Amino acid sequence: MLIAGNWKMYDGPDPVALREALHDALGEHEHVVAPPFTRLHECVRAGLTTFAQNVHWEPEGAYTGEVSARMLLERGVAGALVGHSERRQYFGETDTTVARRTHAALHAGLRVIACVGETGEERESGDTETVLRIQVEAIRDACGEHERLVLAYEPVWAIGTGKTATPELAGEAHAFVKSLLDVPVLYGGSVKPDNAAELLAQPDIDGALVGGASLDIDSFVAICRAARS
Ligand code: PGA
Repeated sequence: MLIAGNWKMYDGPDPVALREALHDALGEHEHVVAPPFTRLHECVRAGLTTFAQNVHWEPEGAYTGEVSARMLLERGVAGALVGHSERRQYFGETDTTVARRTHAALHAGLRVIACVGETGEERESGDTETVLRIQVEAIRDACGEHERLVLAYEPVWAIGTGKTATPELAGEAHAFVKSLLDVPVLYGGSVKPDNAAELLAQPDIDGALVGGASLDIDSFVAICRAARS
């Protein structure tokens, strides 16, 4: 069971205080934080398992605003999120660039949480499985069942909206995603301390990718506790 906190473009909590709170509550139980680039170093230094929120496919080059897997690894960063829906929605991320980023990051030695999920419109028009199939197959064809690869199913309509997928609906989507690519699948989309236990009890849900609730130490620790029980 893996609980990952995506701090997005927020400064987030104090890394040392978070590390202490997690350690007191959970011992060595696994957690991941994905802070903005400016806080990666502090998080690594505090002893948190730290992921970047993006990674480029080239080791270096004229790619303004990007960072490479090699650069991250050399600074103690353990992995990267790839293909978050906010990248797909606002920054032109496509299934092709998601596949390239994921492949390069895994090949270089990083871990990857690659995100997939349908929009509200796609779900309403009955296209959820088609969309998930296209997104997951792009990653599968590039990387296969890599041991450092985890997927996150994040229905776009549930992100930051307070509208969580029901555990049954999420469980169905997870089973479908796993039928295409058999790697651990995290659920993301308005995971909070009061709904985490129910979601994480679903057999095909292997953890959570937490946005808003990961910015508060107490709520992130409460979600991690729910995962452990
Ligand atoms: P949320 O975000 O928990 O704030 O809905 C999840 C995510 O975007 O990863």
